Amino acid sequence: MTSFLFVTDLDNTLVGDDAALEQLNQKLAQHRQENGTKIVYATGRSPVLYRQLTTEKQLLPPDALVTSVGTEIYFNPDTETFDPEWAQIQSQGWNREQIVATAAHYSDLAVQPGSEQRPFKVSYYLTEQAATELLPCLESALKEQGLDVKLVYSGGKDLDILPIKGDKGLAVQFLRQKWGIDAQQTVVCGDSGNDIALFSVGEERGIIVGNARPELRQWYINNPADYRYLAQAHCAGGILEGLHHFGFLSS
Ligand code: GLC
Ligand code: MG
Repeated sequence: MTSFLFVTDLDNTLVGDDAALEQLNQKLAQHRQENGTKIVYATGRSPVLYRQLTTEKQLLPPDALVTSVGTEIYFNPDTETFDPEWAQIQSQGWNREQIVATAAHYSDLAVQPGSEQRPFKVSYYLTEQAATELLPCLESALKEQGLDVKLVYSGGKDLDILPIKGDKGLAVQFLRQKWGIDAQQTVVCGDSGNDIALFSVGEERGIIVGNARPELRQWYINNPADYRYLAQAHCAGGILEGLHHFGFLSS
């Protein structure tokens, strides 16, 4: 077997079925050892919440960690220092204070905990009912001030405001270029809105787990491609199914 780049979201994608996770971990660890396959986690969580998850679940140490919805990259996840080159890209045109001040005018936006407010990510809770009306208004209010940002709504409850170059998909492109790995040798896995960027950025092989949220399912239906696979099984079970489908795993 040849090596590949394995990129996965954590919550409700890699994590959610402990038995399947154990099985997948074993295959990935062996593949990494024998072929040099690389493992990357791409999560919406902050480093603090990532570390918390590592105390609760059995996670293989990744070769790189992408946190905060793609806005931070750690080549050594044990340190607090994110990659400065990627941070430099994120900082272009980003004005955190002005974004926070603009969002403060919307009473339906409830600020997420302090740990989830990051240098290049501002996050709120927002109900689905309120989202339909609020999102276009907020978007144009930000635009009017010349703030070129990205609004990402996930799971019917989380709103992230990110730099225009900040998302999981662009972070994966950055890693692929650094490591010299083709899109055909890259597989990305996810379940919700903040994972759409993983699937839409290029022709990476995509695995959408069987428990995917409606926003990702809808996107998948609207954007059919033979390099994307909607699994039957949930979470790590769906990942295993997809890795076999694409021939990354043989047994
Ligand atoms: C994670 C983060 C949260 C973010 C959400 C969706 O739950 O902790 O801040 O809004 O992912 O991206
Ligand atoms: Mg998820």
